[in-house]
Amino acid sequence: MKLHSSTTLLSLAWQYSIATAFRIDLSDLRRYGDSQQQQQPILRPHRPDAIDAVNTDVDSEPSSSQTPSTLDPIPFPRQPFQRPAGFIALGDSYSAGIGTGVNGTEDDCRHGIHGYPMLIHNDLVASEGPDATTFQFLSCTGSTINDMLAGSEVSQIDQFNTTDTTDFALLSIGGNDLGFFEIMNSCIFRFYSFYSGTCESALQKSEAAIASPEFEHRLRIAIMEILDMVHWEKRPWFTITVTGYARFFNEHTDECDDCSFGVWWRGPKLKKDLRKRMNEMVLSVNDKIKRSIDSINNDFLEPKVFFVDYDEEFEGHRFCEPGVIEPDYARNDTWFFLVGGEDNWPAAAPNISTRTASSDRNLLGPSSPLVDPDICLEPALQSGDWGVMALCMMARAAKNDPTLRARHGEVVAENSMWYVPTYYGKTFHPRSLGHKAAKKKVYELWEQLRDERGF
Ligand SMILES: *[C@@H]1O[C@H](CO)[C@@H](O)[C@H](O)[C@H]1NC(C)=O
Ligand SMILES: *[C@@H]1O[C@H](CO)[C@@H](O)[C@H](O)[C@H]1NC(C)=O
Ligand SMILES: *[C@@H]1O[C@H](CO)[C@@H](O)[C@H](O)[C@H]1NC(C)=O
Ligand SMILES: *[C@@H]1O[C@H](CO)[C@@H](O)[C@H](O)[C@H]1NC(C)=O
Repeated sequence: MKLHSSTTLLSLAWQYSIATAFRIDLSDLRRYGDSQQQQQPILRPHRPDAIDAVNTDVDSEPSSSQTPSTLDPIPFPRQPFQRPAGFIALGDSYSAGIGTGVNGTEDDCRHGIHGYPMLIHNDLVASEGPDATTFQFLSCTGSTINDMLAGSEVSQIDQFNTTDTTDFALLSIGGNDLGFFEIMNSCIFRFYSFYSGTCESALQKSEAAIASPEFEHRLRIAIMEILDMVHWEKRPWFTITVTGYARFFNEHTDECDDCSFGVWWRGPKLKKDLRKRMNEMVLSVNDKIKRSIDSINNDFLEPKVFFVDYDEEFEGHRFCEPGVIEPDYARNDTWFFLVGGEDNWPAAAPNISTRTASSDRNLLGPSSPLVDPDICLEPALQSGDWGVMALCMMARAAKNDPTLRARHGEVVAENSMWYVPTYYGKTFHPRSLGHKAAKKKVYELWEQLRDERGF
């Protein structure tokens, strides 16, 4: 169903024409090091790039003309003294990159082309050449931990093709297990209007889920399934990098106290108390994921799973920053999507990224099952896709109360509120610049790992 082979995504990537990297095995490296070390003081076993250059041009002087980028590549996790071979990305919409750089076509998993796994993949292609590594993009919007697990109907782990060599995995998971959508719905948007449940009960439900041992238990199973699939005992360098979530709001400003993101007239206000509680919820989810990972690592001699907290990077880039009246659709410095908001990747970036988010402008036909109030709810809840759930709840709310008015008059007035799910589903997810910041934090972790491990 949702499996993406690396080739279509590869063809999207930047068209760097870098010579195909060739692989050197450890014995070659040793042999070479023994005989050439004197003349080649730049030889550095943990930077095989230097060796390619030397191998292709053995008689020349040690190169001083190599660019720093050649000598100091991104430390993608890899087998010692080998080129990186490939990776997988798993998890939810935060790793699918929903809404980022969409170009008019979109799959059911809402893969965006600037989600941090794609940005990392682009860098890997730039460094290794287009066919030198593999990438399996298994992340899927709406995914919970149970959805990932082997045997589930939409299992990402079952889709993992282990024929490819895999050096590392990227994972973002937990938000859907810990009630993000319920909180968004009942505290912020109220898609389902009066039927949305109270904000307080959604927050309490989430707090209970965070306190229960169930989350850690299931995360442990998911991580063990990934490790078993790659035969971790034979690939001791294999690591899983897990990202968390960022706090959504500046919780100190007065400007937002009277603003609302509600989709219907008289939606909830973004009061400081609410902003603070939602931020606290994000922090406790991050903390829960981190503690679960620590406990999983305790079962191994060396840690295999690493948590990347990029929350601080979002400082100044949240909703309700000083002087901002929300919803502010013009502010590119906000790194989360608004309902139907544009992405914020700089226009000067490569061609593929400058397409506008036209896909989420398309209207759904009124007969679409996604917006049929009588049948949409069960499949929507099952998909876990925020956008699909939002659309269905809005359809049901409008049916139950025909006098309901949308806050933005244009939306419902002409019965034309039925945008494709991404229009709603991407809200409160990072825009492209947010993913770029997450990528930066991932690289910082990998640098630290390389320094500790020496490759
Ligand atoms: C849009 O992206 C998809 C992959 O996500 C790709 O297959 C397609 O060719 C792209 N279309 C355009 C018009 O760039
Ligand atoms: C797995 O990947 C290999 C090589 O990349 C390919 O030949 C094979 O068809 C794939 N298997 C499945 C089930 O997709
Ligand atoms: C925000 O970024 C988009 C995408 O690069 C660009 O088209 C737009 O002009 C920017 N808006 C502002 C106000 O700078
Ligand atoms: C961008 O598109 C133009 C034509 O539309 C093409 O000539 C150019 O090579 C493209 N640039 C990149 C970086 O792909």
